[in-house]
Amino acid sequence: MTIHILAISGSLRSGSSNGAIVQAAVIVAPLECVVTVFEGIGELPSFNPDIDVEPFPESVLRWRTALQQASAVLISSPEYAHGVPGVLKNALDWVVGSGEFMEKPVALVNVSAYSPYVTAQLQETLTVMMGRVVLATSLPLTGRPSTAADIVGQPDAAIALRDALDTLLRAAQPATEQVR
Ligand SMILES: Cc1cc2nc3c(=O)[nH]c(=O)nc-3n(C[C@H](O)[C@H](O)[C@H](O)COP(=O)(O)O)c2cc1C
Repeated sequence: MTIHILAISGSLRSGSSNGAIVQAAVIVAPLECVVTVFEGIGELPSFNPDIDVEPFPESVLRWRTALQQASAVLISSPEYAHGVPGVLKNALDWVVGSGEFMEKPVALVNVSAYSPYVTAQLQETLTVMMGRVVLATSLPLTGRPSTAADIVGQPDAAIALRDALDTLLRAAQPATEQVR
């Protein structure tokens, strides 16, 4: 059974290292899973319960559908001002009520071991949304990678990213299929 993993970067910056990580995840993914990058969090309106009603904004429907179709989620995010980038927090706020993270395995990766706040805050938010954070790790990267090739070209980082996907894969597999 193929496991679908949705990969999200918390940075909208062109040449973003976190964007490069989620693109690299597509390349290094184990055979048993398909990784799709969700590029639309920057298109979501600012969350407001008044507009969280039918007909929902098109961008919100795309976000919720992408999450519903995924068995697991990979998030790679920078830390901004000791917190979660607003664009990513806004995206998460849009699915608090609709519940797409419920029971879903999530792996958190980032480029810097010196960004503890974003990881702790994402863990807290995802946990209160009933998501299952199964891994939080910093990839052993050197320099500031800006493309997927930069990451795939660093064997230690590529292996760590593949290991993160493997952890997600095992967490998302039905118990009967967990052979490893
Ligand atoms: C507005 C802003 C605030 C930042 N605040 C922090 C911070 O609090 N802690 C930290 O470790 N890095 C901070 N950084 C550095 C970014 O997390 C870092 O440059 C990251 O690698 C950028 O990710 P990206 O390449 O995916 O855009 C900040 C960067 C910006 C632009």
